[in-house]
Amino acid sequence: MKAVAITPHVPNSARLVEVPEPEMTNDQVLVRMVRAGICGTDAEINSGAFGDAPPGFDYLILGHENFGQVERVGSRTSRFKKGDYVVTTVRRPCGCMNCGAGESDMCLRDQFTERGIRREHGYLTEYYSDSEDYMIEIPPHLREVGILLEPYSIVSKAMWQGWKIQERMVWKPRTALVTGAGTIGLLAAFALRARGLEVIICARSKEGTLNSMLARDAGITYVSLQDTPLDQIPKLLGDRVDVIFEASGHGPTALKTLELITTNGIVLLNSVTSAAHQVTVNPDAINMRMVLGNMLAVGVVNANRKYFEMGVRDFEDFQTRFPGVLERMLTRRVALQDFSSRLFERSGVKTTIEIHPD
Ligand code: BGC
Repeated sequence: MKAVAITPHVPNSARLVEVPEPEMTNDQVLVRMVRAGICGTDAEINSGAFGDAPPGFDYLILGHENFGQVERVGSRTSRFKKGDYVVTTVRRPCGCMNCGAGESDMCLRDQFTERGIRREHGYLTEYYSDSEDYMIEIPPHLREVGILLEPYSIVSKAMWQGWKIQERMVWKPRTALVTGAGTIGLLAAFALRARGLEVIICARSKEGTLNSMLARDAGITYVSLQDTPLDQIPKLLGDRVDVIFEASGHGPTALKTLELITTNGIVLLNSVTSAAHQVTVNPDAINMRMVLGNMLAVGVVNANRKYFEMGVRDFEDFQTRFPGVLERMLTRRVALQDFSSRLFERSGVKTTIEIHPD
């Protein structure tokens, strides 16, 4: 069968390859991929920055954003039947306490694996098998947008954990800033808007991109950093920013958010940044603001199945609140056989590789 693979740490090595069909045990489910999504992490893996092959392989099948349909179920499985739509989680546990508790997204050691990223083949292929424990059922009416569930699972985790942490006091957030208007930034802005917050999303591009229009159509204000510098944005929110969701992919911007958050507020840091920017900061001023304002910044990566399940419920809500907006995020569809590494260059919002489309 066909798959897209890279040679780890070799820049620009992504290519279409022929690989053996996956084996499947009695307690596994075989899934026929409908489509896979491409994101910044895949581009970074293709640039050679990270990504590791499974033991015994010199290549890694790429792909962690997935949406597929059950093809066959093992005799010792019970959750699924042929034809069900599923999204499968990315990280697999090690033996640490958190992994043992079903929280591999909070793994204590560096020994977890991630499908399509780290020592486990991914989903950019025709079929894969896995344990049903990692699979989340997608109701048929969400099948068009199911491919957005994996990226959303990280937003869902950040929102749940952020609100949980803020139980440290009486907290009534009114305003939010999202830095970065890519897939994660937009999804985060929808989640914050759905919670009733006034939301500004900012990015470099001038207003008029599809990203800015999708934000506007969901009742979110888009600000171009070419028109308004980042440190002027709090003014537009009445000098109060209760939540910052950082998804710019840019380290200096992530650091800057610590200077923008308001007393008792929370910064949810979500960018994986492998560049090495150098900036000059006043650490005392940043530290003093954060201490005197009880401010909090928390890093958030990956998601366990609980957050995928919450994501399914949030998507149902978004479909009512912001009809058509999730569908419009899927801007470029490319057939698997037409795969080319040019697809890692940004274009529109979300690129999907169509493997067995309905
Ligand atoms: C994936 C996460 C993963 C992270 C770091 C993200 O793109 O969505 O599942 O944990 O990359 O590898």
